[in-house]
Amino acid sequence: MGFRGAMALQKAIKAADLPPGKMTMAKLGTQEVMIGNVGGRFYAIDEICTHEGGPLHEGTLEGTTVTCPWHEGQYSIETGEANPETDWVRDTKSFPTQVRDGWVWVDV
Ligand code: FES
Repeated sequence: MGFRGAMALQKAIKAADLPPGKMTMAKLGTQEVMIGNVGGRFYAIDEICTHEGGPLHEGTLEGTTVTCPWHEGQYSIETGEANPETDWVRDTKSFPTQVRDGWVWVDV
């Protein structure tokens, strides 16, 4: 890991608090991120849906697909890409994560 990359990392949640298949929200500065655990790997994308602002962590996570709770727009939790079949949502921001000392860190 390079020193430069470490500068933007922010401590977000305890890894043990988020079991596989679950999502949660963390506010890091002004950025709200949705963090999800997919089979022990942690991913982070923008919490706020690109459609009408739905809270993504309150939606569902199946495999790597996040479904918005408001109108069922879908994103890849790995890349933030919108599912072309739910074209009312657009690609969203995704953020690199690391697990260190039992915490999930997010590069926002
Ligand atoms: S607010 Fe997310 S699909 Fe409408």
